[in-house]
Amino acid sequence: MPAVLRTIAADITTLSVDAIVNAANSSLMGGGGVDGAIHRAAGPELKESCRDLKGCNPGDAKITPGFALPARHVIHTVGPVWRDGGHGEAVTLSSCYRRSLEVAADSRLTSVAFPCISTGVYRFPPELAARVAIQSVREALQVHPGIREVIFCCLTGEEKLQYDALLEAQVAE
Ligand code: AR6
Repeated sequence: MPAVLRTIAADITTLSVDAIVNAANSSLMGGGGVDGAIHRAAGPELKESCRDLKGCNPGDAKITPGFALPARHVIHTVGPVWRDGGHGEAVTLSSCYRRSLEVAADSRLTSVAFPCISTGVYRFPPELAARVAIQSVREALQVHPGIREVIFCCLTGEEKLQYDALLEAQVAE
């Protein structure tokens, strides 16, 4: 059975999955957007746990427990800051999805939810980001058959519709 790819419009901090992915910054010490929401919902232990990780490079990913979250773990990744598309932004974004699923597989996790990494404060164009996300996740799932479910967690219904359209188009190809 192939893994299930799902979309949802929700606050990612409410999801009961093996891991939610955090769109963090290189310090891993918290911030705004989804990062701030995850730290608030997980409680102060998350920041203490992140301190031990000693930062994270763009495109890489590191794991902590989920503490007070319904999710058992948080996988922290650092997306690229969008400049003009000519600075390897898509490659770095793809690496975020690939490395997050590698880290999940290393910990034998089976369900992972991603936010739309880099599409907020880091200004990556949302449609291109969704294409990169779907393609990268599909490729990674070929390598990690233990991961059974990946959820693209959008904050708005509009973003979800964009993902749904791209997922359907890619199935039809
Ligand atoms: N649940 C799901 N998605 C959310 C949530 C939520 N609770 N909150 C925001 N989003 P951003 P970035 C969406 O800015 O662009 C932080 O300060 C949001 O609508 O959170 O990777 C970090 O510390 C958007 O689609 O992350 C970094 O400094 C997506 O999450 C920097 O921002 C990503 O928006 C990272 O910027």
